[in-house]
Amino acid sequence: MAQFPLQQFKDAETPFYYYDLQLLEQTLNEVKAQTYGFPFHVHYAVKANANPGILRVIHDAGIGVDCVSGGEISASIDAGFAGSQIAFAGVGKTDKEINLALDADIFCFNVESLPELEVINDLAAKKGKVAKVAIRVNPNIDAHTHKYITTGLSENKFGINLELLDGVVDEAMKLEHINLCGLHFHIGSQIMTMEPFQMLCGKINKLQNHFEKKGVKFDVINVGGGLGIDYDNPDANPIASFKDYFDTFKFYLELREGQQLHFELGRSIVAQCGALITRVTYVKKGSVKQYAIVDAGMTDLIRPVLYQAHHNVENITSDSEQIEKYDVVGPICESSDVFATDEPLKTTSRGDLLALRSAGAYGEIMASHYNCRPLPGSLFSK
Ligand code: LLP
Repeated sequence: MAQFPLQQFKDAETPFYYYDLQLLEQTLNEVKAQTYGFPFHVHYAVKANANPGILRVIHDAGIGVDCVSGGEISASIDAGFAGSQIAFAGVGKTDKEINLALDADIFCFNVESLPELEVINDLAAKKGKVAKVAIRVNPNIDAHTHKYITTGLSENKFGINLELLDGVVDEAMKLEHINLCGLHFHIGSQIMTMEPFQMLCGKINKLQNHFEKKGVKFDVINVGGGLGIDYDNPDANPIASFKDYFDTFKFYLELREGQQLHFELGRSIVAQCGALITRVTYVKKGSVKQYAIVDAGMTDLIRPVLYQAHHNVENITSDSEQIEKYDVVGPICESSDVFATDEPLKTTSRGDLLALRSAGAYGEIMASHYNCRPLPGSLFSK
């Protein structure tokens, strides 16, 4: 991330999200460079950040979107995405959301259960349409990440378990208003080694062999998202390891002739370009600790509380050469409202601005009104 534009921050009301759009563009260019020349299609996972300013840049990069609600489909259409660029996932799509997606003629539904398949078939029939569908498979792979963001284990609520897959595929092929075009997978998020993705490729290869023997072929394989980012060293590694990631699929996945490989990347595209900027309201010295009490709270960035995540904190206005340790805490009436403990910061005073780094993904979008607090605003690099 380039230097923070302090002049631009001077009159802005804190807390707010700051987005470095040049870094976002560089990240998207790297994605394009690493997929160029392969039948790879990247859909940005809108759940990571649906700020219209971010969606616009992603739209202009020419990649598609992965949505998990009617709201995300509408936000994507508003940002200029065509229906044909939209994949729609989620375990609990409502009739209203399915109808919205059918009206938008989306690229594909990622279907997670037999009852859902039947409902999509019925609703498509009423509209005289045929819905393109990929079946989400639960491949029972441990992604070695936080349990709340592990999705591909048999006990997780997502996808169709391997033992039940044949039955669902058979059923999908019988339904007249369903065009079964693919298999979909997503094993988890913030995955830092390539091994779980390698294992996923192995499982997909086996499944493709299995289905080919039964005479079933798929136009699309969708491997979801999940590539992690370096929360500890955002300046050293501002762009995720897209080369390692895409190389893993180039090397280990046996794509069939004419088959497309789809990806749904969220965090790795937007995390590093965003920071939550907050002002220090008080510095409080306790008997064992000192606290930097800031005007952002868990309502603005919930990741530390929910996933015990650590976002690097920087004092971006202090001139001090001295480093001291602070617990950086918010104003919310919950003991868990802590961003970081014993965080080394330049000597900090009331009025200083702190940046919580790597907050572009699952930051602003997960903000809430708890304690009747307003939602954080956003500023963009010029
Ligand atoms: N596709 C599906 C089906 C997903 O469920 C997700 C994320 C993605 C793609 C995008 O995954 P990514 O590339 O961003 O890892 N709020 C959590 C992360 C939740 C991820 C949910 N699913 C966090 O702040 O860490």
